[in-house]
Amino acid sequence: MKRYALMFCLLAAVQHTQADDLKVPKNALWEKECGACHVAFPPQLLTADNWQAMMDGLARHFGSNAELEARERKAITDFLVANAGTLARHRSASLRITETVWFKREHRSISPKEWVHPDVKTPSNCKACHNVVGHTSWAERDLRRTGGRSEQD
Ligand code: HEC
Ligand code: HEC
Repeated sequence: MKRYALMFCLLAAVQHTQADDLKVPKNALWEKECGACHVAFPPQLLTADNWQAMMDGLARHFGSNAELEARERKAITDFLVANAGTLARHRSASLRITETVWFKREHRSISPKEWVHPDVKTPSNCKACHNVVGHTSWAERDLRRTGGRSEQD
């Protein structure tokens, strides 16, 4: 590999870690079906086995019926599994992203009062605070509520 090409790769890697933006892949079917009742939660935020378990139980989905036709269910499952998180901090016994170690750590600066604010109601209500444009942008610059967080970071 040419030397400057290697330099470029290293720089790109460093910038990526610093920005830490969640890049959500495009998938029209998933956005439509899984974004109908709430935001389409990014596939990276749960593990593959969590998504598989959720997709196997859509008729009883957190008290709702979100069942899909078999072909659509398979296509969406394949998409979620292919882009799933691989680290232990994305695993959730309850299948809730909001109960993962990652979620709690990422949101540790938010005050307890903010979670129960009338405009928020529940941590699952991502769009109360995140301006989720086309289901793809979760960058910190797109926050519409900063959660009364302290300015230490
Ligand atoms: C018919 C409405 C409906 C559809 C369609 C639907 N969901 Fe849900 N989903 C819900 C409800 C209701 C909850 C619970 C929300 C709460 O507790 O505030 C939920 C919660 C979730 C959660 C947990 C959020 C948390 O608290 O961390 C995930 C993940 C999720 N849904 C994924 C999906 C996926 C993937 C699809 C598409 C296959 C989907 N949902 C389609 C209604 C729906
Ligand atoms: C009460 C407001 C609030 C709610 C609700 C909320 N978030 Fe956040 N989120 C924040 C704040 C504030 C930050 C920045 C935290 C920090 O850096 O201290 C953040 C950070 C993030 C980040 C990291 C962004 C980056 O560029 O570093 C992701 C990804 C994220 N949240 C996803 C979610 C998801 C998914 C949900 C719903 C399941 C959710 N959030 C619910 C306020 C919220």
